[in-house]
Amino acid sequence: MTATETARRVLEGSSRAVVLTGAGVSAESGIPTFRGDDGLWRDYRPEELATPAAFARDPRLVWEWYSWRRQTVSDCDPNPAHLAIARWMLHRPEVLLVTQNVDDLHLRALRAVSGESDRETDREILRLHGSLFRVRCTGCAHGAPHREPVEVRDESSLPRCPRCEELLRPDVVWFGESLDRDLLERALTGAREADVCLVVGTSAVVQPAASVATVAKQAGASLIEVNPEETPVSDLADVSLRSAAGEALPTVLGPSDG
Ligand code: OAD
Repeated sequence: MTATETARRVLEGSSRAVVLTGAGVSAESGIPTFRGDDGLWRDYRPEELATPAAFARDPRLVWEWYSWRRQTVSDCDPNPAHLAIARWMLHRPEVLLVTQNVDDLHLRALRAVSGESDRETDREILRLHGSLFRVRCTGCAHGAPHREPVEVRDESSLPRCPRCEELLRPDVVWFGESLDRDLLERALTGAREADVCLVVGTSAVVQPAASVATVAKQAGASLIEVNPEETPVSDLADVSLRSAAGEALPTVLGPSDG
């Protein structure tokens, strides 16, 4: 049996799967990953853009970068990997999707396959690192969806909290910040209860997100990895598919031919 057939069989037989995705699942949509030759962190210094200190120092610069990333994502569409995961979730109410991605492509794929046009679908996505399309107040911590273009001319044009007038920031997890405790706990509970963990397009080097895969494996789940490159979780994987997510997932998660 090929690795693809094995992965397909394991996933078909699962009754409680957890899916962990990273930037690689969106790569074929045209969104740059973080590490690797074309990765964002090669051209930009995280400490100048993705830390609380960077925002305190130069909120305009940080907003300019996040506005660019929002625009990049808005110009892209879900790819066959997002769509395959979304279709699978539609037929599998028990599947838990945990993502490190701050783009909205999983959500848009879920909407597309379920025919729902409104803002949310009833399937929850655990977004461990937040969302490009939400903001949080630097003063009172009030959070809200935010899709409007941000005017990055100078600090006075940046968005402000409707409640307390302090600056709003992107609601994403920056270096040195903790993940939302409740979200992380729900992801790890899902991992402990899973019989299969499908890990797609992550370098698996950022903790605690990567521990979703290791916790699932330690608790007895089969681990399936889809990534053209080896990662720190490759040694733990029961099945490794060394291909692009958009090529592998439609076959692995799609309806059977027969
Ligand atoms: P990385 O950029 O670290 O890793 C992307 C992974 O995707 C690599 O292992 C690639 O080999 C793989 N990859 C590339 N193209 C692929 C494709 N077409 N199909 C499948 N896999 C592919 O991105 P993440 O692991 O998501 O955190 O990074 C984790 C976190 O680091 C991000 O959430 C972000 C970053 O700093 C925060 O912003 C908090």
